[in-house]
Amino acid sequence: MSDEVLLSGYVRRLFATEDEVLEELRYEISRRGLPEIHISAEQGRLLQVLLRAVGAGRVLEVGTLGGYSAIWMARALPADGRLLTLEIDPGHAAFAREFVARAGLQDRVEVRTGKAAATMEALDAAEPFDVVFIDADKEGYPAYLEHALRLLRPGGLVIADNAFWSGRVLDEEPEEEGTRGVREFNRRLAEHPALTGTIIPMRDGLAVAVYTPAS
Ligand SMILES: C[S@@+](CC[C@H](N)C(=O)[O-])C[C@H]1O[C@@H](n2cnc3c(N)ncnc32)[C@H](O)[C@@H]1O
Repeated sequence: MSDEVLLSGYVRRLFATEDEVLEELRYEISRRGLPEIHISAEQGRLLQVLLRAVGAGRVLEVGTLGGYSAIWMARALPADGRLLTLEIDPGHAAFAREFVARAGLQDRVEVRTGKAAATMEALDAAEPFDVVFIDADKEGYPAYLEHALRLLRPGGLVIADNAFWSGRVLDEEPEEEGTRGVREFNRRLAEHPALTGTIIPMRDGLAVAVYTPAS
C-alpha cells in the first residue's frame, strides 16, 4: 500500500470516524446501485473544519447524490443552521432525504430536485450563503461559480470537489466537456480579483476560495 493511502487512513481513523448512519449510507449506495462518487470521510471532515472556520449558518450544495457530504456538512452547522442541497435525479434526492431523516437532520437540510443552474438562478441574493459547495456535473462548474459569486456573502467560501478531475486538468487541449469545465472553473478561481483560492490536494483535489469583493 502506498504512503498516501496509509496516511489518509491515519487521518480518517483519527479525525473522520463515520457513525452508523454514514456507514450504512455508503453501504446502501453500493447495494442499490447508485454511483459511488461521493466525497471521502476525510473530505467530509475537512468541509466541517472549513464551515466552522467561517461560522457557516447557511450552506448551498450543488450535487447531493445520497446525502453523504450533506450530512457531514449539516453536522457542522448550528442548531438553527440550514443546508440547501440541489439534485437533478429524483431517485438520488429520495435516497438522500431518507438518510437525512435517519441522521435526524430533516429540519436542517432541504433536498431540492431540479437542474442546479435553474434552481440557483431563482435563489434570492438577499438571503446569501456562507458557503457554496460544488460537486455536480463538471461541465457546469464555470456557471455554478458565477451563480455562487452572486449568492455568497463577503468572506464566504466557494468549495468544489474533483478539481484535479483524475489528473485530466493537465490536458491543455481537452476534448471532454467535463475536463474543459473543471479547467475553466480552476482558471476563474485563480484569476478572479475577488477570490483568494487554491486546490487542496486531498483525494481528487478540493478547490477552496474566499470571496472578498471590493467594498
Ligand atoms: C458527485 S455526485 C455528488 C456527491 C455528493 N456531493 C457527496 O459527496 O455525497 C454528483 C451529483 O450531482 C447530480 N447532478 C448532475 N448534474 C446535475 C445538475 N445539472 N443539477 C443538479 N444535480 C446534478 C448527480 O445526479 C449526482 O447525484
